Amino acid sequence: MPTRSDAVALLEEWVESKALRKHMYAVEAAVRHYARLMGEDEELWGLAGLLHDLDWERFPDEHPHRGVARLRELSYPEPVVRAILAHAYPDRSDVAPETPLEKVLYACDELSGLVYACCLVRPNGIDDLKPKSVAKKLKDKAFAAGIHRDAVQRGLELIALDRAVHIQNVIDGMRTVADMLEVRGLDQAARRGNPGP
Ligand SMILES: [Fe+2]
Ligand SMILES: [Fe+2]
Repeated sequence: MPTRSDAVALLEEWVESKALRKHMYAVEAAVRHYARLMGEDEELWGLAGLLHDLDWERFPDEHPHRGVARLRELSYPEPVVRAILAHAYPDRSDVAPETPLEKVLYACDELSGLVYACCLVRPNGIDDLKPKSVAKKLKDKAFAAGIHRDAVQRGLELIALDRAVHIQNVIDGMRTVADMLEVRGLDQAARRGNPGP
């Protein structure tokens, strides 16, 4: 099985955009967190999270099929490939999320984007972010309008957890890479040109 550093090298080869890289790392962290909670294979699950949008920048019209073709050439495990196909269901793929990994990846993808957007508008970023604020922004369709609310909703149905619990899990996962995502309170202070405490 390819290692995480193989996957990071592949990501860096295919993805230039810092925002897209952060999104992929955020989803990886959320999916890994779920793997730990569920006693699943964290390395395997992490690969699916990390590489799910591999071809989005280079081949947006063919996403996720160009990335999947490359991953198959590189002998990535089929559960990883299938999960990546299923995250694009139903608009871009006909593989419906069925396995726990497929459901978790689906449920973490758009929601992690919303959590990230919430962090950017809060003085303390992710440090004291609560599910309640994220749920409020989920209802406010004008906020981070690019986040597909219907996909977040479908993810919640798939993962079959209480909404606040799922949001908290995604926050907890993303907190493990908060420095890299630059979503901590101090990062926000730096962004505003304030050196902070
Ligand atoms: Fe995608
Ligand atoms: Fe994504």
